[in-house]
Amino acid sequence: MDYNKPDLLKARKRTGSETLNIDFKLDEKYIGIGSDKTYHIITFGCQGNEADSEVMAGILELMGFKNIDGEQADVLIINTCAVRENAEDRFYGTLGRLKGLKQKNNDMIICICGCMAQEEKTITKLLDKYPQFDLVFGTHNIHMLPKYIYKKMNTESRVIEVFSKEGDIIEKLPHLRVSNKKAWVNIMFGCDEFCTYCIVPYTRGKERSRRPQNIIEEVKDLVKKGYLEVTLLGQNVNAYGKDFTDIDYTFSNLLNDLSATGIKRIRFTTSHPRDLDEATMIAMQKENVMPHLHLPVQSGSNSVLKKMNRKYTHEEYIEKIKRLKELNPGISITTDIIVAFPTETIEDFNETLRLCDEVEYEGAFTFIYSKREGTPAAKYPTDITLEEAHRRLDILHDKINAGYLKGNKRFEGTVVKVLVDGTSKNDPNTLCGYSEHNKLVNFKGKKESIGTIVNVKITEAKTWFLIGEQVE
Ligand code: 5AD
Ligand code: SF4
Repeated sequence: MDYNKPDLLKARKRTGSETLNIDFKLDEKYIGIGSDKTYHIITFGCQGNEADSEVMAGILELMGFKNIDGEQADVLIINTCAVRENAEDRFYGTLGRLKGLKQKNNDMIICICGCMAQEEKTITKLLDKYPQFDLVFGTHNIHMLPKYIYKKMNTESRVIEVFSKEGDIIEKLPHLRVSNKKAWVNIMFGCDEFCTYCIVPYTRGKERSRRPQNIIEEVKDLVKKGYLEVTLLGQNVNAYGKDFTDIDYTFSNLLNDLSATGIKRIRFTTSHPRDLDEATMIAMQKENVMPHLHLPVQSGSNSVLKKMNRKYTHEEYIEKIKRLKELNPGISITTDIIVAFPTETIEDFNETLRLCDEVEYEGAFTFIYSKREGTPAAKYPTDITLEEAHRRLDILHDKINAGYLKGNKRFEGTVVKVLVDGTSKNDPNTLCGYSEHNKLVNFKGKKESIGTIVNVKITEAKTWFLIGEQVE
């Protein structure tokens, strides 16, 4: 079979090839091929994947497909995540479940894309054990979805096309956004950091930034359409613009220009401590740049940070946090932490706990190290048992949860601004949304407030959310 399969070794290369900016255009022959047909997308992983799924939905709608909630769709897409083993396990669980549906409807097209599609081992396993799939494409070619679906509809054989290249930028992509008030906006793609535990630089290609004008136009257009909040996306947004050879324009310039578009709220993720600069911290003082920073530290031990190739020390990280708090008093800081990285000793782990005390995080995503084949850390020897890893994770959770509650308590009795998402899952009479500091707020208020920003008086702080009443 003539498949175009991925190759992690090839994907690791950074040859300095030029980034092409290509405009998406749907070929006329694909328009209407989905009329009277349905699609459904299952998304695993990070916001980057969620944004990609919104693009695929936009493309499928242009082709005439209609979204349905269930898995019995004519085109079913699974957008995968390769960052940790449990995301991979969940994907295989889902795929296993789909076998029955495929047997009932042989015309169903099951597509697999996202970061796992970029790994050879996935393709080998799929071909070997999960024959129920029809189409695999990678992170570099989601814009070619129409061609693949067309091909699959007109042939019996599977389509596997994954490119292990540095990557281009595709503009003018359609989006079917989940929300009509909050939007993801990609500002860059890929990652050149090569943290030793992480698969992303291999699956997403080199760091490449969208041209400022294209991002500014997109945000202006969102403002026109009534959007109130944008979250700027990139694996390392602080490296934005470093790849431009013709202009001197970095992340702080972009924040300042986007602040001037009139969008009410700007958030961004993810930041890298080494690249977070003073100009960005100053740009964060703008009223519409939200007072919350997610700054993954991964570990508080200098020896572990070095082995992770994070390129900063415990002390340098703390210095940045100090400056950030000086320039933005009251800012809420959250992080990502990995425990049980190979060779992490109890002393190393205690350094992480000490750093948490110093920073006073108001939330964190915490993970047990997961070995990723093809990354340098996969070869590092380790004697940390899973039991010990869980023990460390539990200790860390207790610390993080205490910080979470403390960070929420400071809002008791104050009035915060909430962008109202809708009614609470557990109680249709309660509204919910996020405050400027990115705190989930459940409150009694007027249903007409959904989709607007309102003032809410906080009456009680819980560990995971705030409780309040709408005022005005
Ligand atoms: N094991 C555990 N956690 C990981 N992350 C990335 N790679 C791994 C891995 N191999 C975590 C990091 C990163 C977040 C998105 O996922 O903390 O910041
Ligand atoms: Fe992975 Fe590090 Fe890049 Fe984040 S900065 S995507 S952790 S390699």
